Amino acid sequence: MRKKIVAGNWKMHKNAEQTKELLNELIAKIPAGIESQVIVAPTFVNLASAVDHLAATAIGVAAQNVHQAEGGAFTGEISADMLTSVGVNTVILGHSERRAIFHETDALIASKVDTALKHDMTVIFCFGEELKDRQSGNHFNIVENQLRDGLFHIEAANWEKVVLAYEPVWAIGTGETASPEQAQEMHEFIRETVLKAFSKEVAENVSILYGGSVKPDNAKEIFSKPDVDGGLIGGAALKADDFVAIVTAI
Ligand code: PGA
Repeated sequence: MRKKIVAGNWKMHKNAEQTKELLNELIAKIPAGIESQVIVAPTFVNLASAVDHLAATAIGVAAQNVHQAEGGAFTGEISADMLTSVGVNTVILGHSERRAIFHETDALIASKVDTALKHDMTVIFCFGEELKDRQSGNHFNIVENQLRDGLFHIEAANWEKVVLAYEPVWAIGTGETASPEQAQEMHEFIRETVLKAFSKEVAENVSILYGGSVKPDNAKEIFSKPDVDGGLIGGAALKADDFVAIVTAI
């Protein structure tokens, strides 16, 4: 059975004090015994303290990026070993902001995937089409190519460590969400694509999250679709009440 997951991508928000405050609110407000897995991804400098802070809870901590090399002269970068050494065992890769603003290519993301998996990390692999691709009807092709070029080189056994996050770029931070039908249509296509490239077992077991302007008022309907296994949340993850409402909507 695949897992239900709600992950909050905090992007470049929240200093040390604010991180602690938001975590405290989440600890207090997320109901005990919920079945879905909850993950937060604060900035690099606050990861170690977040891990400590959440040690007695079921809330997981993810990094927003990792460098592909084991170490070396890469000023400003963070390695997988550094992350796992402070207890961070999950990483978001291929986010559209990394692709667009920091020019991360499919090939680069593929090498980051390899490094993360080598360190036994779980990868939340993000991908999704831009508005022009959807308008030209090319969105299925784009998604298939991103999956093939960034992820499908992995071995079948590694799928246990992979979570997919379909995030149409036109819906990220725009307030515009894919309709539940659009999300379901794409998620079904993604599962089918994984099935063709790997197996029915892999396709059935991989969690596929939707991301892009998920809010308390649209989460329930999106999460009710059979191939949507949760969400990757940006803006709404920064307010405890909104994030908790999304977490409980699943
Ligand atoms: P958003 O961001 O929820 O603010 O649209 C989602 C994301 O970037 O993962």
